[in-house]
Amino acid sequence: KNVAIIMGGYSTEYDISIKSGSVVYQYLDRNSYNPYKVIIAKEAWYVLLDNGQKVEIDKGDFSAFIHGEKIKFEVVFNAIHGTPGEDGYMQAYLEMLGIPQTACDFYQAALTFNKRDLLSVLKAYGIRSAESVYLNEGDPIDADAILAKVGLPCFVKANRAGSSMGTSKIYKKEELDQALANAFAEDDQVLIEAFLDGTEVSVGVITYKGKTKVLPITEIVPHGDWFDYKAKYEGGSTEYTPARIPQEMTDKISALAQKAYEVLGMKGFSRSEFIIVDGNPFMLEMNTTPGLTEQSLLPQQAAEAGIPLAELFDNALTEALK
Ligand code: DAL
Ligand code: MG
Repeated sequence: KNVAIIMGGYSTEYDISIKSGSVVYQYLDRNSYNPYKVIIAKEAWYVLLDNGQKVEIDKGDFSAFIHGEKIKFEVVFNAIHGTPGEDGYMQAYLEMLGIPQTACDFYQAALTFNKRDLLSVLKAYGIRSAESVYLNEGDPIDADAILAKVGLPCFVKANRAGSSMGTSKIYKKEELDQALANAFAEDDQVLIEAFLDGTEVSVGVITYKGKTKVLPITEIVPHGDWFDYKAKYEGGSTEYTPARIPQEMTDKISALAQKAYEVLGMKGFSRSEFIIVDGNPFMLEMNTTPGLTEQSLLPQQAAEAGIPLAELFDNALTEALK
């Protein structure tokens, strides 16, 4: 089967997505699949051949002429972080063309990629999250009112972004303007959240062999102040899988992550983040095209569950093709 591994994307997570997609390309079993790297960049969509040659994609039917032959892709492995692969655009486009892909459907992608909307929906199901203030670009900024609600320190985040792009932790009112500028550079929506002083954990939930499977939980211990870009990608954190938390808490978090996955009608990959404060888990977000390198969190969790990368990727394609 011809598989298009889509990677890159239009956001600042481009390079990370290329890494994830390249790992998928490396590990996909050649006996079952004929994989192609497909770069989705703002300037162009193209197949990147092993010899470095670039072949433009026909967006009319998502095909490419390779060595004189029209290649149609039967399935897409979605390894784009951020827009347009994690927020529903590619999902909707591929759905219209009748090409299955490994991530959740377009609506779930759009909903989960919007932190405010995700958390407000899940609140109705008893999943708690931090106090927050939401701003659209151009809204009047009343720093005192914002800080009265969320307190200090607090997190200022791009509402729709990943890998901590556009996120700052601030300690003083004077830092708010710069933090807002950083967040608005990433998205025209900003979420300002109360700082949750607790243990950060991350849990993958996937559809595996036809059933919802909750993976072992990872505990994240950043070496610096918080789990920022450096801590995520430049070795600035220690990650424990399984998390060093009581069994009771493992069960609680697993149940919450599974509930979120199921009430939203998810499929494919998901990785949800929580902060445990005094025995109470608060949800931060859900990622639906999580990092897929050997060092990334979800692959670590899958490995702990006895699922090696080749099998994790094969399962994702098998589920997408059902
Ligand atoms: N947004 C990054 C890639 C993640 O969630 O793993
Ligand atoms: Mg994220």
